[in-house]
Amino acid sequence: MTVIDVNPHLDQLHPYPFEQLRQLFSGVTPNPAYSPISLGIGEPKHPTPAFIEKALMHAMAGLSVYPTTHGSEPLRAAIAGWLERRYAIPAVDPGTMVLPVNGSREALFAFAQCVVDGARGNALVMSPNPFYQIYEGAAYLSGATPYYVNSEPGRNFAPDYASVPDEVWSRVQLLFVCSPGNPTGAVLTLEDWRQLFELSERHGFVIASDECYSEIYFGTTPPLGALEAAHQLGRSNGARPYANLVVFSSLSKRSNVPGMRSGFVAGDPQLLRKFLLYRTYSGGAMSPPIQAASIAAWNDEHHVQDNRALYREKFNLITPLLKGVMDVELPDAGFYLWADVRRTGLSDTEFARRLYAEYNVTVLPGSYLAREAHGLNPGRNRIRMALVASVDEGLEAANRIVEFCKSL
Ligand SMILES: Cc1ncc(COP(=O)(O)O)c(C=O)c1O
Repeated sequence: MTVIDVNPHLDQLHPYPFEQLRQLFSGVTPNPAYSPISLGIGEPKHPTPAFIEKALMHAMAGLSVYPTTHGSEPLRAAIAGWLERRYAIPAVDPGTMVLPVNGSREALFAFAQCVVDGARGNALVMSPNPFYQIYEGAAYLSGATPYYVNSEPGRNFAPDYASVPDEVWSRVQLLFVCSPGNPTGAVLTLEDWRQLFELSERHGFVIASDECYSEIYFGTTPPLGALEAAHQLGRSNGARPYANLVVFSSLSKRSNVPGMRSGFVAGDPQLLRKFLLYRTYSGGAMSPPIQAASIAAWNDEHHVQDNRALYREKFNLITPLLKGVMDVELPDAGFYLWADVRRTGLSDTEFARRLYAEYNVTVLPGSYLAREAHGLNPGRNRIRMALVASVDEGLEAANRIVEFCKSL
């Protein structure tokens, strides 16, 4: 039989962190005295608001037509309106500056395939470290090599971009930014953005800003968005507004609809024109009932405030409990605690394995979310806890973790 080689870049893909976790837990029987609680997977668990479900059901007639890749005008207008209100930015043209996507995950991946020319000069795709694993897979499958810049705890987990040599920058074609960050919860400042825009101009690369956690925050000021920062730095007007900048956002976390697969991409009209062309061929059109439900969701903030209040309650109750046994702080935003467990004397993997075995609580070892780069794995000795379940379940998990740490 002839052996047919498929795309060799597929062999570069790393196993997903949850696969690594499955291997770590293989052969372990969790203590049957406890019911299972998972803080491992970052999947929103609050209920989907009824008005979104209703909008979806009332739009079922849309199943009888093929949707366009560009999405409906009312959906693009709803997204543009949300962007203007949320970020206090000038009018966003729904025709050229907004593109609905089927969740930000597929769009982040597809965008790299659209932007990166893998045949040109040892292409690099840069991302923070730790990072959302899609960035890495997107880089490999575009024919580029990922380049990781370690998030530094001393700088509120901002990567030290100033330390990157010019020789590296000259090869970077795409930079993934994640703000609020997964897993760190850190939000980039205006100064961080000023530096990134300058670097992008000097070295000629595109910035993809992943902002899917933007609506879950704990202080009074909502996280700064990339378009907002660009506007404040005078980059929202002229012949090419938001040049070389595209943001990715999503309803999954904001509106508790991870199964709906609805998000958008917005920013530089020239890049979006190319991305629309790419998507016309890849077939990324959003189903009309999902479009109708998305319009309802983007036009409402009450349910988002309620959602945020629930997360705030959980984080305010749980963070002080855990602080007694590990080094952990309330993040700027997002729904993760990114804790340093060195005080326990256990490595991140040993901590996760024993916590599962002895207390039936699942957390994700930080080293699974990062790569060894510049002499260290910045996720080592950390664990990620997704506070996605109910307040009661979160508290129960926290109490078990405290008991576990005290038993060590
Ligand atoms: C950092 C980050 N970006 C993007 C996504 C994708 O979200 P969605 O595809 O639901 O919009 C996730 C999901 O967990 C994430 O953590």
